[in-house]
Parts: sequence; structure tokens; C-alpha cells
Amino acid sequence: MKRGHEEIASGSFTPPAKVKSVSYDDSFKNAQRVADHYSARSNQTLEEREASPIIHLKKLNNWIKSVLIQLYAQKGDAVLDFACGKGGDLIKWEKAQIGYYVGVDIAEGSFSFPARLICADCYEARLDEYLEEDGPYDICSCQVSCVARRALSNISALLRPGGIFIGTMPDANVIIKKLREADGLSFGNNVYWICFDDEFSQKRFRSSSPFGIRYQFHLEDAVDCPEWIVPFPVFKSLAEEYDLELVFVKNSHEFVNEYLRKTSVHRELMRRLGALVMGTKIKAHCHRRNGMLLTCTWLMC
Ligand SMILES: C[S@@+](CC[C@H](N)C(=O)[O-])C[C@H]1O[C@@H](n2cnc3c(N)ncnc32)[C@H](O)[C@@H]1O
Repeated sequence: MKRGHEEIASGSFTPPAKVKSVSYDDSFKNAQRVADHYSARSNQTLEEREASPIIHLKKLNNWIKSVLIQLYAQKGDAVLDFACGKGGDLIKWEKAQIGYYVGVDIAEGSFSFPARLICADCYEARLDEYLEEDGPYDICSCQVSCVARRALSNISALLRPGGIFIGTMPDANVIIKKLREADGLSFGNNVYWICFDDEFSQKRFRSSSPFGIRYQFHLEDAVDCPEWIVPFPVFKSLAEEYDLELVFVKNSHEFVNEYLRKTSVHRELMRRLGALVMGTKIKAHCHRRNGMLLTCTWLMC
């Protein structure tokens, strides 16, 4: 792939000296930290956005989300958007001519547009109790955010049979591969770094205990939060427990290649977004039994 802007120097990054070890008991504090981080982020002007060191990554990610939405959203759909952020995807949903939109995010500061927006922890709260009367939903989306057990139970309870879940999440395999290739417990470049705690110094992870593998993720101009490894096979079998069936999963590189070739509409969108410089995401999807669920994973490399 030809790059259209400055070379990213691999290995040139400054992770913190140490990342604190965290147990599940700290999950409330972590959620609060995530909420504070995203609430504190102000809306950027167009100029500020264009000057971002990760502008091409943002644009490519927007292209991937737009294509996913175009592929699965139907006119008149009721949409439930988990971890909706500042509503950056609203226009994409509008273009898909959906009928109704509910966005949920843990960060209060994320809400800056008129829509039904709820401040809640999608991964801990029982949202079916709040959102039942609005449902069932045709589509549930969770973009660029991890999905936990409670989220899957919320999604399953709120989707109509046959309803679709689409999403993007980090690719655990790529993260672990890069960790093992690194000299220490961190790796990255000049726009991102990932750092694991000393407890993972062996770089070995038991498949019998796949949960709680935490790392610190820093993405210039976007994220500085704890995240958790979600191995895709574990996610898939968890989703099956909640009556969600995998129907499509793809690495972002393959997704971009495939859908750029598929139709001129997707090519034109990519051209307009000006995203095709560097890319890095993976996606997948699943669906509710008699329907479907879709998920995606990503990592910059
Ligand atoms: C990287 S942003 C993605 C925002 C949006 N989905 C997008 O694609 O632009 C991740 C979002 O997840 C939200 N988030 C993280 N943990 C959450 C939780 N437990 N419950 C609800 N939202 C959460 C954050 O507040 C943030 O807005």
C-alpha cells in the first residue's frame, strides 16, 4: 500500500515506565477512568481534525464503519449504538435511512447532538430494563470498543430475532504476536503504543483463563485507557451462549481489499474520505439466531 503522508517510524514511542496491575475489583475505577478520559475530550474543529497525526487512520476507520452500515442497515431500522461516543456515526446511520436511533455511552461529555442518548455502562448495566419499551432493535452496533458478557446479554435481549449486531474490536492475535516479538512488554510507533504489566512478563496466556488480560492503550490524539484482550474464539463462544451466531468475520486488510474491489460506491466513498494511506483493522460479525450478529476486530500495524 502506498503511503500518502509521513513515514511512521516503527518502534519510536514512549510508553509509561510501568503499568499498574489491575484486578476485576478495580473495574469500577477503570470504567470511571475511561468515562473521564472520553468526557474530557473536546469536539475538534475541522482544521484540528485534519491536523491529527492519526487522521488517515480515523478516515479509514470511518470508511470501514460506513461500509458495514451500508451492508447491514435497512431503511426504517431501529438502531441501538453501544459506546456511541460523540455521535460521529450519526450521519452514516442517517444515510442508511434508519427509522430510530438510541446511543449509549459511559462518558457524559460524549453527548453533543439531539437524539435519544443515555449515559450508562454498556458492559455492566442491565440495559434491557431501560430500553425494553423502545425495542426490539433491528441492529445493534458497537464500534471500536470492547464487548463484555453483560454487553452480549444486553444485545441479545434487545435485538429482535434475526436482528444484526455489527462491531469492531482489537485483534487479540495481532496484539499478542506483537508483544511476543517485542523486546520488553511494550510496542508501538509514533502514533500508538501498547504496554502490558509485569505480571505478563512470560508472555504466556492460559487458554483456560482468557479473561482479565489488561494492557494500556495509547493512541495519539484519541485514546489513553486500559483495554482488555478479547480472544475472538472466546468472544464467539460467549456470543453463542447469548443466542448470537457468527455469520461473518474478516481482517480489516482483507475487508478493505474486498469491499474496495466490490463496488464503485465503496471506492468513491474511500476517495471522498481520503483514507487510503495506512490502515489497520479487522472485522467480523455474528447474528441473533434466526438472524445474525456481526463483530469486527482491529489493530494498527
Ligand atoms: C474509541 S471510542 C468509539 C466511539 C464510537 N463508537 C466511534 O466508533 O466513533 C470508545 C467509546 O466507548 C465508550 N465506552 C468505553 N467503555 C464503555 C462502557 N463500559 N459503557 C459504555 N460506553 C463505554 C467510551 O466512552 C468511548 O466513547
